[in-house]
Amino acid sequence: MELGLVELLRAAWIAGTLPILIASLPCSWLGSFHGLVLGFARRGKIMQSSSHHKFTVPQRFFSHFYVVAVAWTTLLLLGTSIYAYRMTAIVSEPFFYADLGSYLAGRSNIFSFHRPQLMSLENGHRVWLSVFLLLLMELQVLRRLFETVYVFNYSTSARMHICGYLTGLFFYTAVPLTLCCTFAPEALKFGTNEVFQFIVKGTSSMQDIEFHWQDFINPFLKLGWCQWIGAVIFLWGWIHQHLCHAILGSLREHVGKEDEYVIPRGDWFEIVSSPHYLAEIVIYSGMVFASGGADLTIWLLFGFVVSNLVFAAAETHRWYLQKFDNYPSNRVAIIPFLC
Ligand SMILES: NC(=O)c1ccc[n+]([C@@H]2O[C@H](COP(=O)([O-])OP(=O)(O)OC[C@H]3O[C@@H](n4cnc5c(N)ncnc54)[C@H](OP(=O)(O)O)[C@@H]3O)[C@@H](O)[C@H]2O)c1
Repeated sequence: MELGLVELLRAAWIAGTLPILIASLPCSWLGSFHGLVLGFARRGKIMQSSSHHKFTVPQRFFSHFYVVAVAWTTLLLLGTSIYAYRMTAIVSEPFFYADLGSYLAGRSNIFSFHRPQLMSLENGHRVWLSVFLLLLMELQVLRRLFETVYVFNYSTSARMHICGYLTGLFFYTAVPLTLCCTFAPEALKFGTNEVFQFIVKGTSSMQDIEFHWQDFINPFLKLGWCQWIGAVIFLWGWIHQHLCHAILGSLREHVGKEDEYVIPRGDWFEIVSSPHYLAEIVIYSGMVFASGGADLTIWLLFGFVVSNLVFAAAETHRWYLQKFDNYPSNRVAIIPFLC
């Protein structure tokens, strides 16, 4: 059986989620396994209580995740947009189709299909949906890059485990790919072919390509209510995550010590200890909603995000309860009024 990108991504999300789920089981004989997973997941204030700092990197290296994420998401967004635009515009542009058909079939072996298989309406809708999801992701990673540089005040003593660091790099490579995994290999082949033609033929390879803004905007106007509700959920989480990050970033302004921890107050902090993790779950649930809920790979990604953040939030909540005698008793770890 040939393993494609979709299968590999699904296997990776399951492999990332299973250890966290097993470590979360309330079984005493799993105690050492729980400790092992927690050791890899610890960072910042939670790691300070840990005795050794072997195999760790500064927590401010979080910015690396978002540099990678912005570069990779932008590349995939551009590639998939151009692919979507060219492949779907073709249907309404017979001249360009004929040109592209001979260009693809005659001069390149990469694309040897005929017009009806070029892009069905169904696939046309799905490829534009991938572009829409990548746009949401771009919004998220751009804001996170801005926050790691300008909003958070990482203390010099805050560290994270090297495994957590590598997982973060993997995460932000795999998420944008997951959002467009059905088309990513084709879009990449298409893009490579375009670049190759450009190198061989120069600007003359672009002469027959006309760009109409309407052809780019129209597919988004045809998206369904599911996509727009998903986008609203995404924006709701996006705004609250920014508010909570701004609160976290301002906590040390009046304390004097750069590695002091205080009880955060305001916005969703009034009900849960890790509202920024809760907001992240809201953000990804918006993406699942916007995807239409029929893509198993996106569901598996969501499963990883939820398990990872609930696990980290439970530990953060325990840390707050131990550290502050006056910690608000109405706050739970991450799911309002539940846990
Ligand atoms: N999608 C995922 O799977 C995933 C995984 C991990 C993180 N994330 C997202 O990344 C974002 C950041 O996560 P994180 O784990 O780095 O957050 P964090 O540990 O809460 O730290 C964020 C910043 O706030 C500071 N801070 C936290 N609590 C504080 C307190 N009580 N008093 C003073 N300062 C405090 C930290 O200081 P120090 O520098 O001293 O630690 C750090 O600079 C979150 O929104 C999260 O959702 C997502």
